[in-house]
Amino acid sequence: MQAQFILSAASAADFPRTGLPEIAMVGRSNVGKSTLINALVKQKIARTSAAPGKTRLANYYHLDSGLYLVDLPGYGYARGGRESVEAFEDLTQAYFDPSTRDERRVAGVLLLIDSRHPDLPQDAAGYAWLLAAQTQIAIIATKIDKLNRSEQAKTLRTLKKNYDSPVLPVSAFKGDGLDDIWKTIRAWINTGPR
Ligand code: GTP
Ligand code: MG
Repeated sequence: MQAQFILSAASAADFPRTGLPEIAMVGRSNVGKSTLINALVKQKIARTSAAPGKTRLANYYHLDSGLYLVDLPGYGYARGGRESVEAFEDLTQAYFDPSTRDERRVAGVLLLIDSRHPDLPQDAAGYAWLLAAQTQIAIIATKIDKLNRSEQAKTLRTLKKNYDSPVLPVSAFKGDGLDDIWKTIRAWINTGPR
């Protein structure tokens, strides 16, 4: 498969009209979004970092199988002070904005959650927000290689209890779980526009 980075959008005006199904990827900074993109396409097209990035851009990657992966910014503090719930960055909210949604074929969203932290309130808030945006969602439990077998089972139970969507464990490092993510993406694309 051939895949390439196309552009970084800094504002909604920069979102390209790709004309192709788009798979959006969201999650907290450092959760493993860029590493997962590279693992899915088996190429190093996305920049990864051990330090949580300050990136506030939507990065578009074109796959020659006929879709885009869109790496969206994660959470920032909602306006109104430190105690307010973290909300998706404005750019991510704009991406799902119903008034401009016709220009994008959002086939589904991968919500990445660190498998070591299945109970974070900001992830729960992000999920609730995505549910309201009426898109298909899969929870991706990242960095599963950091847990032993029984810890893996426990965290998957917790995620399945917390989230009413498919939960897919993945290790981008080991390559475990990538096939199931591809199956989900293909199913979304084949069910047509949304
Ligand atoms: P931002 O772009 O900053 O929001 O982060 P990101 O979500 O793109 O995370 P990134 O892919 O840059 O990975 C963050 C860190 O997690 C890096 O140190 C990666 O090496 C590590 N990481 C990513 N995937 C895995 C995995 O499957 N297993 C392990 N053990 N570490 C991982
Ligand atoms: Mg990244």
